[in-house]
Parts: sequence; structure tokens; C-alpha cells
Amino acid sequence: MRNKITIAIDGPAGSGKSSVSKIIAKRLGLLYVDTGAMYRALTLKAMRNGIDLGKETDLAGLAHNTEIELTHKEEGTVVLLDGQDVTEKIRGTDVTNNVFYLARAEGVRECMKRLQRKIAEKGDVVMEGRDITTVILPDADYKFYLDASFEERVKRRRKELEQNGKQFVESELSKDIKIRDKKDLTRKIAPLRKAEDAIVVDSTGMSLEEEAEAVISYVK
Ligand code: CDP
Ligand code: CDP
Repeated sequence: MRNKITIAIDGPAGSGKSSVSKIIAKRLGLLYVDTGAMYRALTLKAMRNGIDLGKETDLAGLAHNTEIELTHKEEGTVVLLDGQDVTEKIRGTDVTNNVFYLARAEGVRECMKRLQRKIAEKGDVVMEGRDITTVILPDADYKFYLDASFEERVKRRRKELEQNGKQFVESELSKDIKIRDKKDLTRKIAPLRKAEDAIVVDSTGMSLEEEAEAVISYVK
């Protein structure tokens, strides 16, 4: 029997983390863990409960009193927030624009760290986010930093929104990614950065299949 493996993936929005992770998980028979979905689910709950997003202690309290579960079905990951399916709702622009409040709160990140490490403990996982290679699983068997040019990432997001029939304003699209990049790169706690020993894959000009192949070629 082969040993269990743990793969950690970080990178900015639109670098292909979730799509590549899903492909790897399927091909190698691993559990896919989308940590961004956890921050999104907490953000949705904070918004629904009318919590002041500027109050970090309140956000930490919320995180401690919330159950987030990722379950896996044929159609993909289903996100349960206190038992309720929020898979679609957490993808809304309101959630995307507010998630940084939760992501910068130390108490929230501590709570997420415990949960994410517990999930990864059993092994055979591919976990992706912003701080997986640096904070959550620095000893993972394989660590990747996925990247792509800003223009390419904007292009991908545009295509994704168009394919899903979502409305968007062209000028807002690049602005939103720029703002999120900046917030993720500059926050004090667990900012997005390349782990020294992470393998960097720049997928500018690569199809999704090519990017996934590039990553998998290191794992085999
Ligand atoms: O898929 P997308 O690039 O839109 O983002 P995501 O992975 O769903 O993550 C949403 C937000 O959650 C990110 O912009 C980060 O601010 C935050 N996040 C984080 O701080 N740490 C993680 N491990 C994962 C996500
Ligand atoms: O998770 P992250 O935000 O890093 O990116 P993603 O959600 O996996 O990818 C964003 C969009 O770009 C999706 O629609 C992917 O299919 C697409 N993509 C692509 O066209 N070419 C790639 N090499 C990687 C992703």
C-alpha cells in the first residue's frame, strides 16, 4: 500500500488553485479541501447576523460558535454552514467583497487553523488557499505556489462569469481582483506569500489541463 500524501497549494485569485486541486484530487484519489469556502461561509454568517465586520473579537466569537463542514458529492464540494447548504450563496459578490474582514481577524484564523489541520491529519488531501503552504501545512509532502499574470487572471474570471451567466461590470472586475490581491498580500496575519520551498508554477498562457499536468508531474 502506498503512503498517504498531503498536498498544499497557495496562490492569488484566478491562479487556478481550485480547478487544479479538483483535478489532482480526482486523479490521485485525494480529498479536496477548499479553505477559501470556509472563510466565505463565515463571512455569509457574519453578514446574515448583522455582526459589525470591523469588530475582530465578535468575528472570532462567531467563528468559535459556527460549524463548517465540507462534504463531497458527485457534483463537487458541498459547503454546510451550521448544517445548511450554502454552496451557491457563498460565491456572491457581497461575500467576496467582505471576506477580507474575516481573513484578517487573528481569532478567526486560529479557529480555521485548528479545523483545517484536523481535516488534513488523516492524510491523502489536497488543500488550497492563501496560507496553506506557509502556516497550515508547512510540512506537507508537496507544496505549490500557483501564479499567473494579473491580466490572465482577470481574463479567466471574466470568462468564468460569462459562462455562468453572471452580470458584471468590466471595470469593477479588474479593480476587485487588484484590491483582493493587495489585501491578501499585505495583511499582518498569514498573508499570501511564496513559501521558500514551494514549487512555483506560473500558468500564464497555459490551459487548465496543462497547468494540472505541470503540477501532477512533480507529484508522480
Ligand atoms: O477562489 P477565490 O480566489 O475567489 O478565493 P477563495 O479561495 O474562495 O478565498 C476567498 C478569500 O478568502 C481570499 O481572498 C482570502 O482573503 C481568504 N482566504 C484566506 O485568507 N486564507 C485562505 N487559506 C483561503 C482564503
Ligand atoms: O481557485 P483560483 O481562484 O486560484 O482559480 P480557479 O477558480 O481554479 O480558476 C479561475 C478560472 O480560471 C476557472 O474558470 C478556471 O477554469 C480558469 N482557468 C483557466 O482557464 N486556465 C487555467 N490554467 C487555470 C484556470
